[in-house]
Amino acid sequence: MKTKKPIGVFDSGYGGLTLLKEIVKQLPEYDYLYLGDNARAPYGTRSFETVYEYTLQCVKQLFAMDCELVVLACNTASAKALRTIQQKDLPKIAPNKRVLGVIRPTTEVVGQYSKTGHIGVLGTTGTITSNSYPIEISKFYPELKVNQEACPMWVPLVENNEFDSEGADYFIQKNINSLLSKDKQIDTIILGCTHYPLLINKIKKYLPTNITLLSQGEIVAESLADYLQRHSELEQKCSKGGIIDFYTTDAPENFDKAASLFFGKPVQSKHLDI
Ligand code: DGL
Repeated sequence: MKTKKPIGVFDSGYGGLTLLKEIVKQLPEYDYLYLGDNARAPYGTRSFETVYEYTLQCVKQLFAMDCELVVLACNTASAKALRTIQQKDLPKIAPNKRVLGVIRPTTEVVGQYSKTGHIGVLGTTGTITSNSYPIEISKFYPELKVNQEACPMWVPLVENNEFDSEGADYFIQKNINSLLSKDKQIDTIILGCTHYPLLINKIKKYLPTNITLLSQGEIVAESLADYLQRHSELEQKCSKGGIIDFYTTDAPENFDKAASLFFGKPVQSKHLDI
């Protein structure tokens, strides 16, 4: 019997499902294993060390479940843990396996969208204070000016089903105005958090129409497709049965209730202890 070798998709909780949705749309033939570390979410407010430790544990778990390739579908984990895992841990624990993040694919293309050369980034406190976006953008487009805004209330608003409320309006308007007041020439904004696609209507409401919003789903999916094409030895190891298995470190019944909102379809998860 052929062993299943799914592509691992990891997030602190539900947010990565917005990316998985786009990945599956573009690459439906592969098997996927989604892991949400809901029991320890949110990651956005946690220290560098904690996010790194939790992320590494989950990556090891996905490797133990036969994933050859893991996508950190979480900006906070990509910002705080990816580089150390790639450079320090992978050579020791699994030299032939790969871990990819979501920041690089977005920063690789952002320059194609901006006419003014002024970019805005919205993300969790962890992602913004890590400076990962400005650092990565400067590698590909050193001429771009980047301003950022941490939006610590946006994830809790989504997690608590308040994304359509007046409270959401208040915080979204406040953070957007604050970002735009830092640089009046911003014409492209990166939604640097996997939860933010659920707030897109309200975000658009407070943005001038000339500003382009970059949501990561399609960009990350395209980048993964390109990566698999360029790495045929890894691509051949990934099994193709079109099956998606969902795991959460918290209660599956809670996960399933909220997850369908992020994934756009009913989800049935299993519990996993890390
Ligand atoms: N998934 C995280 C991200 O993209 C946000 C949720 C959290 O704070 O854990 O940054």
